[in-house]
Amino acid sequence: MSEPTGAARRRGPFQVGDQVQLTDPKGRHHTFTLEAGKNFHTHKGSFPHDELIGAPEGTVVRTTGNTAYLALRPLLPDYVLSMPRGAAVVYPKDAGQILSMADIFPGARVVEAGVGSGALSTYLLRAVGDLGMVHSYERRADFAEIATQNVRRYFGGDHPAWRLTVGDLQDNLDDTDVDRVILDMLAPWECLEAVSKALVPGGMLCCYVATTTQMARTVEAIREHGTFNEPTAWETMVRTWHVEGLAVRPDHRMIGHTGFLLTARRLADGVEPPLRRRRPSKGSYGEDYTPPGGAGRKSAADSPAAVPEGAAQGGEPAS
Ligand SMILES: C[S@@+](CC[C@H](N)C(=O)[O-])C[C@H]1O[C@@H](n2cnc3c(N)ncnc32)[C@H](O)[C@@H]1O
Repeated sequence: MSEPTGAARRRGPFQVGDQVQLTDPKGRHHTFTLEAGKNFHTHKGSFPHDELIGAPEGTVVRTTGNTAYLALRPLLPDYVLSMPRGAAVVYPKDAGQILSMADIFPGARVVEAGVGSGALSTYLLRAVGDLGMVHSYERRADFAEIATQNVRRYFGGDHPAWRLTVGDLQDNLDDTDVDRVILDMLAPWECLEAVSKALVPGGMLCCYVATTTQMARTVEAIREHGTFNEPTAWETMVRTWHVEGLAVRPDHRMIGHTGFLLTARRLADGVEPPLRRRRPSKGSYGEDYTPPGGAGRKSAADSPAAVPEGAAQGGEPAS
C-alpha cells in the first residue's frame, strides 16, 4: 500500500525539497527548503545544504562562524505560523480544538470557508486523509492563490482530497451530504441557509470568530434558523511554563486572545428543535437588548429563548 499523501515527507533522512527548521542557540527559528549545491547563510556564517541531505532529523550543523543549529522538519504548527500569509491563520491551539470538537474523521466530507492562507485547510486535509474531501471556498482570488501554494508546499504537490472554489460560500456552495462545515470568516450568519442545505442530518457546523459581537450574532442566528440544535460556544487559553530548577512558574507572556469557537449539529429535515421553552435569565432579552443584525426576537415576551432540556441558565459549559 502506498503512503498517505505527504507522509513520506514527514519522516526519514532529509531529502531535497524538504522544509528544514533550524533552531539557533537562542531558540530562534529559520526555515528553508533543501536544495542540492546551495548554501544557507546567516550573520553567523553559512553551511552547505548538502551537509543535511541524507542526514537524520535532529542533526546539529555548524556554520563557518562555528554557531550550532539544530535541524528538524517543521511540525504543522510551526509550518502554518511561518508560511506566507494573506489573511490571519487559525492559531494552532484552535486548529486542534476544531479537529477534536468538530469531530473531523478520516474519510469525512468537509466544507470550509474562507480559506485565507490555507492553514486550516492543511489541518483538515491531514485529518480527513486521501479518501476524504475538503472543499474550501474563498472569496478573494489572491488569498486563494497564496493558500494553494502553502498547501502544495506542505504536501509536496496536490492533495487528492482538496477542491478550492473562488467565490462567496453562500452563493457557490454546491456540495451535498457534507459531514462537517467549518466557517472562519467575518459573517458566518450569512451562510447558514446554504450550510444547512449542504449538511447531512447530524452533521456539524463549527464557526471560528474573533469578537464577542460576532459570537453572539452567530449563536442567535443559528437559533433563529431552526435546523440546528442548541449551539455551544467557548474559547481556550494556553499558558506555557518556565521550568528550571526551583523556578517553576507560568511564563510571563501568553497569547491572551485568538478567537471564539462555536458548534451546532444539523437536525433531521422537518424536525423541530427538541427544546424546552423557558424564560431566559433576567435581562437577557430585556428592553436594552438589540438583536444582533437587527433581526430576530426583540424581547423575552415576543419569543422566549429556547435551551435544551436540562441546560443551565446562561448556557452549557464549553466542553
Ligand atoms: C481569517 S481568514 C481565514 C483563515 C484560514 N482559516 C486559515 O487558517 O488560513 C477569513 C477569510 O474568509 C474569506 N471570506 C470571508 N467571507 C467569505 C465568504 N462568505 N465566502 C468565502 N470566503 C469568505 C476572507 O476573504 C478571508 O480570506
